[in-house]
Amino acid sequence: MPAPVDFNDRMLSLGLARVSEAAALACTDLIGRGDEKAADQAAVNAMRDQLNMLNIQGVVVIGEGERDEAPMLYIGEEVGTGNGPGVDIALDPLEGTTLTAKAMPNALTVIAMAPRGTLLHAPDVYMDKLAIGPDYPQDVVSLEMSPRERVEALAKAKGCAPYEITVCVLERPRHQDMIADIRQTGAAVHMITDGDVAGVIHCAESRLTGIDMYMGAGGAPEGVLAASALKCMGGQMWGRLLFRNDDEKARAEKAGITDLDRVYSRDEMVTDQVIIAATGVTDGSIVEGVKRRPDYVETETVLMRSKTGSLRRMIYRHPLK
Ligand code: FBP
Repeated sequence: MPAPVDFNDRMLSLGLARVSEAAALACTDLIGRGDEKAADQAAVNAMRDQLNMLNIQGVVVIGEGERDEAPMLYIGEEVGTGNGPGVDIALDPLEGTTLTAKAMPNALTVIAMAPRGTLLHAPDVYMDKLAIGPDYPQDVVSLEMSPRERVEALAKAKGCAPYEITVCVLERPRHQDMIADIRQTGAAVHMITDGDVAGVIHCAESRLTGIDMYMGAGGAPEGVLAASALKCMGGQMWGRLLFRNDDEKARAEKAGITDLDRVYSRDEMVTDQVIIAATGVTDGSIVEGVKRRPDYVETETVLMRSKTGSLRRMIYRHPLK
């Protein structure tokens, strides 16, 4: 039997950047065209083609959906050349399909890779999420606290008034009470219409983004991607799966989750080292979007490794023939 191949994150990360770049490039002519499906499909096709060129034995654990719902990049799909280390892949070929269709900010392509068996197999349900940056004592806020208590605890730890805290929240009717509770403290609410992977990442660089905390319910797959990013950048995150019906509970059981009420910390969602690449599709606070120039298309990618905490920004010019 061949010896297991090491997870060489240093080399693999450069290949991973190519994968997210290709997905963003594929969206170039679909930004602002009002067609979410076409944009998503273009990103999926490009991501899969590039992924299959990597020397990995990859399994998609966070993907486009269950096998019977998604023809490509479905959960459980094997990707890569089949030579190389066994890895888990978490991906969102287009995080912000509506943002792309409407040419609104912060649409990204994003993909994470980790040694086999180390990423949470989160089903496609909602997750209650809470995230803060790297500068705080462990567990200074928690999912058990009310939104108000979280703001007050964070302000105390930051040494400021609640008024000086900014919380990022997805603008959804389900968050109305939460937003009201946050506002009662005097804190500011930074509302986003979509894209909570970027929402969470903002917390890791609060001095640049002005966002101290992320909270609210969004996709569980996006939760694992956000946890991967925070593991590289620093910051704390917690997530609890939310189930609306028995079908969603069955999805969790199928993914091997037995404790449906469990709160997962960042390091319980991502239990080993991880690498993650994200490329801008539309301009955002993390990366610039795809730019079409006369002779080339330009993308910006952030590439991060948890082992070293390194963050690389890569500008790629793709020549137009
Ligand atoms: P899509 O790119 O699949 O449209 O997801 C965007 C997103 O905003 C995620 O960032 C977020 O986790 C999720 O949708 C929230 O779901 P909902 O729109 O159902 O509230």
